[in-house]
Amino acid sequence: MDCKRFIEEQITSIKETIGEAKAINALSGGVDSSLVTMLGHRALGEQLRTVLIDNALMRKGELEYVVKSFASLDIEVELVDARQEFLDALAGLTDPEEKRQAITDTFYSKVFGRLVRESGAKFLLHGTILTDIEETVDGIKRQHNILTQLGINTEAVYGYSVLEPLKTLRKDDVREVAKLAGLPAEISQRIPFPGPALATRIVGEITLERIETVRIATAIVEEELADSDAFQYMAVLLNDRATGIRNKKRQFGQIIVVRCIESTDARTATVTQLPWEKLNRISERITGIEGVNRCLYDLTPKPPATIEYI
Ligand code: XMP
Repeated sequence: MDCKRFIEEQITSIKETIGEAKAINALSGGVDSSLVTMLGHRALGEQLRTVLIDNALMRKGELEYVVKSFASLDIEVELVDARQEFLDALAGLTDPEEKRQAITDTFYSKVFGRLVRESGAKFLLHGTILTDIEETVDGIKRQHNILTQLGINTEAVYGYSVLEPLKTLRKDDVREVAKLAGLPAEISQRIPFPGPALATRIVGEITLERIETVRIATAIVEEELADSDAFQYMAVLLNDRATGIRNKKRQFGQIIVVRCIESTDARTATVTQLPWEKLNRISERITGIEGVNRCLYDLTPKPPATIEYI
């Protein structure tokens, strides 16, 4: 694809659609929302307010990392603490689609609705990509960021219009455009991380304690596999327990799954054949986490599995 032309067209189109109005966008630190932030600021400058919503589900060090990375690109990112709202909305839920729905509602209706009202923004710039749309419309799973394609009139429901400059791109195209748009390689080549964040990696109820367990495991996996060249890698906390031994005593502990996959666009994926020593090292570190006594490696391609667990 012609990335240069794509960037120019999108900047012109964002300018034309928004005119003199105010716009807002949520940055998660992933490549999709980072690229939207970049294009949006090039098109709108000060008319665009970029927020980073702390939903209590972010990875270790993520908030600081994102704010710092964009500060070095001269883009101000405003932190919004919405941790309690997300935790309250998720409390007691175990069904994956109900959890996704709770995150969508909290994000677009409660937190964003409030920000939009306060700021007087008329438009939300959104990092939806083609794969998100296809899988939601096909009924595979409800991606948190799909609204208009499900027939939701965002203006009537949430009070703002949604603009989706990346909706014709797949992940590999997004990375290429991101590079050309001036995002540093550490962002343009960043492994995908979903909007609902660590919630997609917790099977069963989401509590502060369970988030912390998966957060530590995620940091270990990301550290160990940073040099793997894989498309995506993650840690997942299961809802089951297994018997093990801790301090010479029986322990009914938690189970972490490690997943590492190869893909170009996330529509299909195969499992990375990681070296045995690497898997062993990850397992040793993961089972060192408080309360965790088993570590499994997921051997399932997509399909039949999806990449995330909820
Ligand atoms: P699945 O699990 O559907 O994931 O095979 C495909 C790709 O999409 C990411 N993903 C999401 N990204 N919002 C996002 O922004 C979501 O709700 C969402 N769910 C999955 C996932 O990490 C993978 O790269």
